[in-house]
Amino acid sequence: MPIIVENLSYTYMKGSPFERAALRNINLKIDDGEYVGIIGHTGSGKSTLVQHFNGLLKPTSGRVVVNGMDTMSKNLRDLRRIVGIVFQYPEHQLFEETVYKDIAFGPLKMGLDEKETDTRVKEAISKVGLGEELLNKLPFELSGGQKRRVAIAGVLAMKPEILVLDEPIAGLDPGGRDELLGFITNLHKSMRVTVILVSHRMEDIARHTKRVIVMNRGMIEMDGKPAEVFRDVERLEEIGLSAPQITYLMRKLKAVMPEIRDDIYTVEEAKKEISKYIGHLL
Ligand SMILES: Nc1ncnc2c1ncn2[C@@H]1O[C@H](COP(=O)(O)OP(=O)(O)OP(=O)(O)O)[C@@H](O)[C@H]1O
Ligand SMILES: [Mg+2]
Repeated sequence: MPIIVENLSYTYMKGSPFERAALRNINLKIDDGEYVGIIGHTGSGKSTLVQHFNGLLKPTSGRVVVNGMDTMSKNLRDLRRIVGIVFQYPEHQLFEETVYKDIAFGPLKMGLDEKETDTRVKEAISKVGLGEELLNKLPFELSGGQKRRVAIAGVLAMKPEILVLDEPIAGLDPGGRDELLGFITNLHKSMRVTVILVSHRMEDIARHTKRVIVMNRGMIEMDGKPAEVFRDVERLEEIGLSAPQITYLMRKLKAVMPEIRDDIYTVEEAKKEISKYIGHLL
């Protein structure tokens, strides 16, 4: 069942001198099994929006319904099980004494027994590319990238139907980034998990997602296939964003080779297109 957002507005600290409108009249539907990217400059409301999907934030007005459950309802247990959110800076949320306990926290809270939890903890740590020898470590002994993976493992261990990742790859090295995104994309394909990925990296959004939502000042500015959104470079730039780097390269090439396509958003596509013209030289 989908995520339905109707006329959602959200204001932080409403009624105080510090009140701040973060979302303004958002309407949105995300279907089962979609892979959606959310982009937008800093402060545009991305994190505020995704925190409405599991009821962590409640609409100031409007409503959010996930799998038929209104997030205003009191019982959010089922909702929290269905929607797993990896928050921005998830490493700040590791609070248990060991890595094992941190990953086990969600499954135990869901009411799984110790045996099933144990299986899930081990599955999850290997899915994020870490070894079981880390399970007995203290979270603060880990590197930044390892902490982030542990936080992601904690959400994966709950086997959510909808997986929301808020800037999951910020601060990871390129190898770690590709590995993690590859893994998430795989999860989406093999398990039909709905994935919602917030990222500043246009390359990653273009390469992995099938729909891009562009936020600007608490509103949805654009919503379409990556090719449709990234085609409109001028509009993206107007709101302080950019197309993937490779798109700019293709545009430059087109200036000297008018027959080459410049509606290209990933390095793979660019390679194919360029090979058509200079393949014999490569
Ligand atoms: N806890 C908070 N209290 C008050 N205002 C907040 C709070 N969190 C966010 N805001 C404000 O709400 C607006 C939207 O913030 P939000 O964190 O959703 O943006 P974002 O798109 O996720 O930004 P970033 O790319 O930097 O993560 C901003 O103006 C921000 O200053
Ligand atoms: Mg954010």
